[in-house]
Amino acid sequence: MSSGDPEVDTSAPAHGPDAATSETNDGAQVVPDAARTLFGARVDRAAAYVDFLAGPGLERGLMGPREAPRLWDRHVLNSAVLAELIPQGALVADVGSGAGLPGVPLAIARPDLEVVLIEPMLRRTEFLAEVVDALELDRVTIRRARAEDLDVTDRFDVVTARAVAPLTRLATWTLRLLRPGGRLLALKGRTVSEELAESAASLARMGAVSWTVEDVGHEFVDPPARVAVVERGRRRHEAKRRQRRK
Ligand SMILES: C[S@@+](CC[C@H](N)C(=O)[O-])C[C@H]1O[C@@H](n2cnc3c(N)ncnc32)[C@H](O)[C@@H]1O
Repeated sequence: MSSGDPEVDTSAPAHGPDAATSETNDGAQVVPDAARTLFGARVDRAAAYVDFLAGPGLERGLMGPREAPRLWDRHVLNSAVLAELIPQGALVADVGSGAGLPGVPLAIARPDLEVVLIEPMLRRTEFLAEVVDALELDRVTIRRARAEDLDVTDRFDVVTARAVAPLTRLATWTLRLLRPGGRLLALKGRTVSEELAESAASLARMGAVSWTVEDVGHEFVDPPARVAVVERGRRRHEAKRRQRRK
């Protein structure tokens, strides 16, 4: 989940409009203006999360050392801008959450959301539990599991994922978790359009009815975050309604 992410573009320079991340004399990360806008009154929690990533996150190898100077822009802001695509009050599963990306920044920016962080690796879920507890994120829970083993179906309004798996595999694991009409939001790199084109036939077979690419966060991160948006069909829902009418 660190600098070697296959799914997230780490090649482009990250110089967001307000994202000139640097350290103060005491080693703390300067809070960018974009963070104040995105997190509002909860910006202190976002700063505490950055401190977690910069401290225990780096010490325990959950983030690569090269990520230290770009925790705000490349990781936290880039995750929080996904909020643009998430409806009010949604139930969100963040699959392959790792050290909490994008689920934790989303939960901080959007207290209206209920967020389930899904992560199979113990040392990562332990870290997540410490973060959730320290930041008092009351509407965040943690499930230690592989997405494909989850006993939950037809439930989430939104599934988010960053740097977890190629799109076809990710959709195989996650489309069934979504309620009919729910959406998978996969933070991807610059080549996502090609990946979507290659996955199209498989996505249709799995019951997806649309797949598009959206760039979000133009005001806050440069380049904007690129997201593959895959919508699960409503067929099952409609079938249930038809059954009820009989
Ligand atoms: C490269 S890391 C990315 C972590 C985080 N999303 C980020 O962007 O920093 C991939 C994460 O996916 C998790 N993962 C791998 N296979 C998974 C699966 N089948 N279900 C859920 N999570 C999985 C790994 O344990 C790891 O934490």
